[in-house]
Amino acid sequence: MKVLVIGGAGYIGSHVAKALMKSGHRVRVFDNLSSGQEINLFKQNEFVKGDILDYPALLSAMQGQEAVIHLAAKKAVGESMENPMIYSSNNISGSLNILNAMVETGAKYIVFSSSAAVYGMPEKIPVDETAPLNPINYYGFTKLEIEKFMQWYDRLKGIKFVALRYFNAVGYDAEGDILGKERGSQNLLPIVMEVLSGKREKLKIFGNDYPTPNGTCIRDYIHVSDLASAHLLALEKLAGGMPSQSLNLGTGKGTSVKEIVEAVERVSGKSLPVEYADRRPGDPAVLIAAADKARELLGWQPQYTDIDKIVETVWRIN
Ligand code: UFG
Repeated sequence: MKVLVIGGAGYIGSHVAKALMKSGHRVRVFDNLSSGQEINLFKQNEFVKGDILDYPALLSAMQGQEAVIHLAAKKAVGESMENPMIYSSNNISGSLNILNAMVETGAKYIVFSSSAAVYGMPEKIPVDETAPLNPINYYGFTKLEIEKFMQWYDRLKGIKFVALRYFNAVGYDAEGDILGKERGSQNLLPIVMEVLSGKREKLKIFGNDYPTPNGTCIRDYIHVSDLASAHLLALEKLAGGMPSQSLNLGTGKGTSVKEIVEAVERVSGKSLPVEYADRRPGDPAVLIAAADKARELLGWQPQYTDIDKIVETVWRIN
């Protein structure tokens, strides 16, 4: 299939572009390189530099494409609360431009990178797709609204979508093909790596009084190559007639912050200086996915279920 990967030079997008290319799809990457990096591009794939807010450029890049994978978004939760305007324009207006360009060019399928943030503070763990949708930050709100726009464009214009609700995306391509480390990430593992490389003095663990076995927060860490394979399967299922869906992507296994620290110490052989700090506002104690629906509908199976193996893929490129 001819696929436009929007945000294909970014952290997750580059892994998706690799998976598509490897299974014989014709990939055109569209990316404004604001957080994506040229070093992440594969020479086998076409590249068009452009911004989703530049409608004529987007329309021109979409000509002749049968499907779209949409990973172009701002994703910093804290920033979305302080500066919602960027999230309104980039995430919401940008996504509407993509849907409108699909109608105009006749592209039929879209796989969208959504987030567990659409659930907010879930009451029941593990979280399945029937859980209430109550985002507690503006970032999560934008993801949920885009899912709703896609439902309408399906109803009104027949555009079929899969929204993939990622839990905690981590890791790097194990074959070393993706060279650009994510820049400026505020997520746990990138911060841990900055401590190991001496860029930061210590890791602040946000809260050790949560109602979990060791008091630190539990998350479902899903390897980025497993996310990538789900995009590929979602696209192929849509083309095979699967109706539009929203699907969780996680391993179903929880790992606490302390367990991440222990895994990093085992894998790197170094000790990681930590200090305990106050809870970070808005952090749920436990967030674990029920991803049975993705397994059943896509035939998807995450390959990385061992946290040490995941951490190894991060440590290797540092
Ligand atoms: N953490 C620390 N210290 C740090 C950074 C993180 O203790 O310096 C802890 C957090 O408190 C949390 C865990 O590490 O318990 C993971 O934190 P991340 O910031 O890596 O990830 P989140 O679970 O907060 O966020 C992820 C995605 C978001 C998404 C959110 C909700 O990165 O995009 O899940 O689904 F919105």
